[in-house]
Amino acid sequence: MYAVLREDAFLGETHIVTGSGQGIGLAVATLLSQHGAQVAMVDLDANRLKEAAIEIKGQNAAAPLVVPADVSQEDDVQKAVAQVLEETGCINGVVNVAGVTRDARIAKKSFDDFKFVMAVHVHGTFLFTREIAAQHWHPMFKANDNQPLRDEVNRFVVNFSSVSARSGNIGQIDYTAAKGAIESMTKTTALEFAGYGVRANAVAPGPVRTPMLAQVPEQGVAAMEKRTLLGRLCEPEQMAATVAGIIDPRVSGFTTGQVFAANGGMYLD
Ligand SMILES: NC(=O)c1ccc[n+]([C@@H]2O[C@H](COP(=O)([O-])OP(=O)(O)OC[C@H]3O[C@@H](n4cnc5c(N)ncnc54)[C@H](O)[C@@H]3O)[C@@H](O)[C@H]2O)c1
Repeated sequence: MYAVLREDAFLGETHIVTGSGQGIGLAVATLLSQHGAQVAMVDLDANRLKEAAIEIKGQNAAAPLVVPADVSQEDDVQKAVAQVLEETGCINGVVNVAGVTRDARIAKKSFDDFKFVMAVHVHGTFLFTREIAAQHWHPMFKANDNQPLRDEVNRFVVNFSSVSARSGNIGQIDYTAAKGAIESMTKTTALEFAGYGVRANAVAPGPVRTPMLAQVPEQGVAAMEKRTLLGRLCEPEQMAATVAGIIDPRVSGFTTGQVFAANGGMYLD
């Protein structure tokens, strides 16, 4: 097992990870499971999720729940959150990782592609955030006489931005718009969810070696590597470790409403 925190850091907690069929999401689901969390894996393809869950279980970790859903579809997300609540009785947090790209310069970008990219990132992040609040955290707040929850339970939202939200990126008018929106949504979520005892933060990665990056031509990837101060790509496991540190209240318990730049020094704010 690849431990970055104490082994039982998330024992007794339920974490939803969207986009966990591959790439960063899969690495996050694996690491959180290895640290004791009951992870609910959300992605489009049920078979890929099942295989991934079996693989995670084989790595000395709690077996994840498999919850196939399209994050951009309201009905899917409502059902996914209800299913996780039914099976576990509690949701501690969500890592909104699911993402897509449809790169093309503005002059050639179809409106359908623009809307598709916005829907997966922005609608998906909104829908999971809202549904967990509507079905779980807000009712807890009401049951507490509308008083802030100060029960020391770990509750969190971790959203996925990108270095390109701030630097811009040719071919990604839709993706960069979506990531900028996600950073703003993270701040609003932190403000609104403070009363639920929820910390809401975002990660803004630089280039990470995943199937998404594999769509970029080799010389483009080499140029990205060079643009980082560290002179290399990030591995998904390293990004997952950053996420685990944000989720763990012992590490980041006084941090909310923030965007963590994890870009190898590619862009200095
Ligand atoms: N890889 C990078 O270099 C990089 C850099 C910055 C930010 N990011 C962000 O990190 C996140 C993960 O990226 P990745 O590189 O692992 O991507 P990836 O393409 O390897 O994996 C994305 C996953 O999201 C799933 N997904 C896509 N649409 C979905 C939908 N509608 N509903 C449910 N699941 C859906 C896919 O099936 C896939 O399993 C994304 O939000 C991405 O924008 C990645």
